[in-house]
Amino acid sequence: MSIDIAVVPVAGLGTRLLPATKSQPKEMLPVGRKPVAQHVVEELALSGIGRLLFVTGKGKHSIENHFDTDGDLITYLRESGREQALAELDFERQEMEYFYTRQRRQLGLGHAVLCAAPLVGKQPFVVALGDSIIGLNAQSDIVARMTALFETTGADVVVAFEEVPRDEVFRYGIAKPRGSVDDVFDLESLIEKPAVDEAPSNLAVAARYVFNPVIFDKLAETRPGKGGEIQLTDAIQTILSEGGKGLGVRLHPHERRYDIGNFGSYFRAFVDFALADPQFGDGLREHIQALLERP
Ligand code: G1P
Repeated sequence: MSIDIAVVPVAGLGTRLLPATKSQPKEMLPVGRKPVAQHVVEELALSGIGRLLFVTGKGKHSIENHFDTDGDLITYLRESGREQALAELDFERQEMEYFYTRQRRQLGLGHAVLCAAPLVGKQPFVVALGDSIIGLNAQSDIVARMTALFETTGADVVVAFEEVPRDEVFRYGIAKPRGSVDDVFDLESLIEKPAVDEAPSNLAVAARYVFNPVIFDKLAETRPGKGGEIQLTDAIQTILSEGGKGLGVRLHPHERRYDIGNFGSYFRAFVDFALADPQFGDGLREHIQALLERP
């Protein structure tokens, strides 16, 4: 059976986005018309994912509420003839099963993924970080490409990568590729947030992974690493160093990763999605052009 379950960690505190995230999760911030989490779910649905397990935490209830079917709202919109607004709720009917579990202590991304172990069990699975959208309007099949590769190659782990400027490698998990780097490449090793002069490349982990469930065993053994947190990158590195097979898949040039983890990249993501809006994009473009031309 092909891989159809994705774990979406959304337990992070979002402190880099305060005060916007003081009482709402960063995954519910709007990017264009939709909250980040909805873009992520739509991207995963495009790639054939049918079951989603959110790993949530304190203050994240609005994510669960968002994916509920709101019968009262539907009735109200139907009775008041608001067909357009009704159409905006189409995503509620998406054929997706939702599951939720909580990370009860903030021990890092690796620990959040480990919280999914009792529910995922012994099947291969996808991890999609809930604060990153791949592709404009989430129109990316990166996860489908990764799961296909996982199944045909017998890899233990497949990771998505994007090239980042050299002076920004310290923000990401960075790959050391084995051999030449094409759209798909062999992973020799992986290091979390290296210093600029220690980074083996500028290929940065881009928020999407496919795992053999053996990752859970490795996560259970992983000690706190960078920032005192249990790092997913470190558990992947254990698999690689023990002879496991890891593959990297590069995002296509048109397939940007929109990172909603800090204001700089959040603002850029919002502007890109808003400019692509069929109703308001052109007007916004004119507004920005006029602003930029103002002396
Ligand atoms: C996490 C991962 C890192 C990855 C990044 C973007 O870091 O630990 O390896 O490059 O996401 O996908 P964070 O942004 O949570 O610090």
